[in-house]
Amino acid sequence: MKRKLYIGTNTKMTKTIAETVSFLNSLQALTEDICRDNIELFVIPSYTTLESARKCVSEGLIRLGAQNMCWEQRGQFSGEISPLMLKETGTEIVLVGHSERRSIFNETDELINKKVLSALRHGFTTLLCIGETADQKEMNISDEALAIQLKTGLHKVEDKDLGRLWVAYEPVWAIGTQGIPASASYAEDKQGKIKNELKDLFGDASDDIPVLYGGSVNYENSQELIQMQCIDGLFIGRSAWEAYNFNRIIRQTLPLFMNKNS
Ligand code: PGA
Repeated sequence: MKRKLYIGTNTKMTKTIAETVSFLNSLQALTEDICRDNIELFVIPSYTTLESARKCVSEGLIRLGAQNMCWEQRGQFSGEISPLMLKETGTEIVLVGHSERRSIFNETDELINKKVLSALRHGFTTLLCIGETADQKEMNISDEALAIQLKTGLHKVEDKDLGRLWVAYEPVWAIGTQGIPASASYAEDKQGKIKNELKDLFGDASDDIPVLYGGSVNYENSQELIQMQCIDGLFIGRSAWEAYNFNRIIRQTLPLFMNKNS
C-alpha cells in the first residue's frame, strides 16, 4: 500500500464560524500546491461551523470531520447530532472517543463502540482516539488500558469497513496546556503495540489502518515523531490552530515521512 501522511487538527471549542472559515481559507491557500497523493489533510471543527466550512474548502484538498456524533439517527436525544444531520453538512470524518469526551463527558468504551459502529455504518471515515491516563501509566497498565479501549471500541467492526477506520493514539497526560509531550520512543513503543492489537483483531487487513499520534505535537517535536516507523500521521491541537503554523509543520514532516517510506 502506498503510504500517505495523515495530518489533521481538531479545533475543539475554540473557533466561531467566521474564525473557522478564515482558518480554512488560509490553510487551503497555503497548502494547495502539495500533491494530495501523498497527504491526507483534515480539519475537525465545531458542529456549527461545518456547513460553512464545507462551502469554503474543496473536498479534495481538506477533508472535514465532526468532533462527536450520536449513534442514533433520530429521536429523543436532546442536544445530540445524528449521522443523518452530519451527512447533510458534507462532513466526511467523525471523531470518536477523544479523551475530553471520555473524561469530561464520561463516555465509556461501550458507548464509544456504538458510535464507531454507527459512524462506519453511515459511511463516515471514523477516527477512534485512545490513550492511557497518567494514573494508568503510573500503575504500569498502559498497554492493558490501550488494548481494552481498542478491543471494546472496535468490537464487531467488520473487515469491509476497515478502509474507513483510522486510530489516533493520544496519551491523556500528553494532551492540552497541562500536557507533557511523550518522547518519540515512548510513542513509538505504544504505536507498535496498538498495531499489534489491530493485527490480532483484523489480521493483515489491519495494515491499512493508519495509526496517528497526538498530544502536544508541535513544530519542534513533529520532526522526530514522524520519523518513527509506527507513526503514520499526526493529530494536532494547539500547534495547528493557526494556518501558518500548521502549514510549517506539514511542510517539515511530509518529506521526512516520504523518506521513511521510500
Ligand atoms: P494538543 O491537543 O496538541 O493541544 O495537545 C491534542 C488533542 O487533543 O488531540
